[in-house]
Amino acid sequence: TKPRIVLGIESSCDETAVALVASDRTIRAQRIASQHAEHAPYGGVVPEIAARAHAERLAPMLEAVMDEAGVSLADCDVIAATAGPGLIGGVMVGLVTAKALAMASDTPLMAINHLEGHALSPRLADPELEFPYLLLLVSGGHCQILLVEGVGRYRRLATTIDDALGEAFDKTAKILGLGYPGGPAVEKLAQSGDPRAVPLPRPLAGSSEPHFSFAGLKSAVLRAKESGAHGDADIAASFQQAAVDCLTDRLSHALKRIGSVPNLVVAGGVAANRTIRTALERLASDHAMGFTAPPMALCTDNAAMIAWAGCERLRLGQFDPLDVSARPRWPL
Ligand code: KG4
Ligand code: ZN
Repeated sequence: TKPRIVLGIESSCDETAVALVASDRTIRAQRIASQHAEHAPYGGVVPEIAARAHAERLAPMLEAVMDEAGVSLADCDVIAATAGPGLIGGVMVGLVTAKALAMASDTPLMAINHLEGHALSPRLADPELEFPYLLLLVSGGHCQILLVEGVGRYRRLATTIDDALGEAFDKTAKILGLGYPGGPAVEKLAQSGDPRAVPLPRPLAGSSEPHFSFAGLKSAVLRAKESGAHGDADIAASFQQAAVDCLTDRLSHALKRIGSVPNLVVAGGVAANRTIRTALERLASDHAMGFTAPPMALCTDNAAMIAWAGCERLRLGQFDPLDVSARPRWPL
């Protein structure tokens, strides 16, 4: 049978993205336009600037993707767009665009939860990855441990009670006078520092609660910098080590609760961090689990994961009405 084709649109944060993905797991074409340059002067994402940039870029990107794949709207089986959670202005730009396309071409619409996109994306890259798997989702906006049991079956085992880990990396970068986004810069600086030099807290580590917390760590980084007693590289390395310790502690806690799961998967922008990946790989092998991280292009925000979530839901026939709403908050 002919593979089905899903058009995906992502606009929940600071990447505008469009992709055409087929049910045979081929990405027919995709575009991602990052807005880092627009937000860099402010040291973080400015919602109004993001929404405007999505609105300006989406139409030409849709055209480019269709052209490259040689696919017309009439060839699409579903139009899938992120409907939340995220910055509501940007989400609305993408969702309204998807609704217009769906209405004009009489194609079914799917309102995808951005987190579901992240949760299912590892299966786009790896056809062998079966349910269930334990997913650590660590990005600028999210820090969660999910048990992915099937399409539409996600058990959130832990989330952050304050900052996301990527946010903590970005704030640490700001405190140390590095650029935005800060994660890669902190990682680079940490290479020349001593991870044991600066005593920093491991918030919630050892706690009987399942969750993450990074706000206290960030404040401790600020105090360490202001004390003048430590070099920047030592602060960066010690921060990164504290982050690693929090992640492994919380994952161990989750595994203790649910028992064994065959695979550990990490996704989100922070998954690019080598020190974090190495620590997770070790944790997985200690628990006799397989470990996978999707390719970076699928880990960070993209539209292929939204289109793929559409492909997965298409098998179950889960469509949404044209009056479905955008949702700034939308737990899985
Ligand atoms: O998934 P993503 O591209 O967008 C969100 O959904 O947030 O994640 C971006 C986040 C940023 O906070 C960035 O600083 C962080 O991922 N990041 C990293 C690294 N590369 C990106 N954090 C630590 N180490 C890295 N190498
Ligand atoms: Zn994301």
